[in-house]
Amino acid sequence: MARQSIEIAPGAVFYPGYLDRAGQEALLADVRTAILAAPLYHPRMPRSGKPFSVRMTNCGPLGWVSDVEGYRYQGTHPETGAAWPAIPQALLAAWRELSGFAFPPEACLVNYYADGTRLGLHQDRDEKELAAPVVSLSLGDTAIFRIGGTKRQDATFSVKLASGDAFVFGGPSRLAYHGVDRVLPATSTLLAESGRFNLTLRRVTAAK
Ligand code: SIN
Ligand code: MN
Repeated sequence: MARQSIEIAPGAVFYPGYLDRAGQEALLADVRTAILAAPLYHPRMPRSGKPFSVRMTNCGPLGWVSDVEGYRYQGTHPETGAAWPAIPQALLAAWRELSGFAFPPEACLVNYYADGTRLGLHQDRDEKELAAPVVSLSLGDTAIFRIGGTKRQDATFSVKLASGDAFVFGGPSRLAYHGVDRVLPATSTLLAESGRFNLTLRRVTAAK
């Protein structure tokens, strides 16, 4: 099926309405199942130990975690000690369709933004395989997503990411600074609760 795509910067491609409502509901059910096995928790900032406002969990052989020791990928949930659940098939299909990368993702970071939470500008740079893009899917309330260049002081612009939207950043934008300024309450009826899930798929280790 032809999909609408908008390249907002070299390597940063926005796919509005990538998932229809049925696709969003099916993916949300997968996310809820994953969270039963790997509960959302508040990661902590390196050094300060201050908790993030956003709650997180992961799917896949590896998951991104943050605590006083720093940022890293690991195979187990930091609070339960259990292996992360598998990446849902629908997300693997989205990766195959959108990433342009021949090897599968190894991590899916699941962020949950309750009302009033945000994610500061940062780079995704804990992955060894920077030839693979980051593929993001959003469910629930609309977010004001901000993306700039590869230097923190570069100009930024914002994109509204609504439920079902996909966003891919790779190539010259793979190390672009990005974050979420805020989530707009009551902009989606997908979740029974308010807030937003964002799922980011990443290839972590060097692909052979
Ligand atoms: C992230 O950078 O981990 C998530 C971005 C988003 O929530 O859209
Ligand atoms: Mn990120």
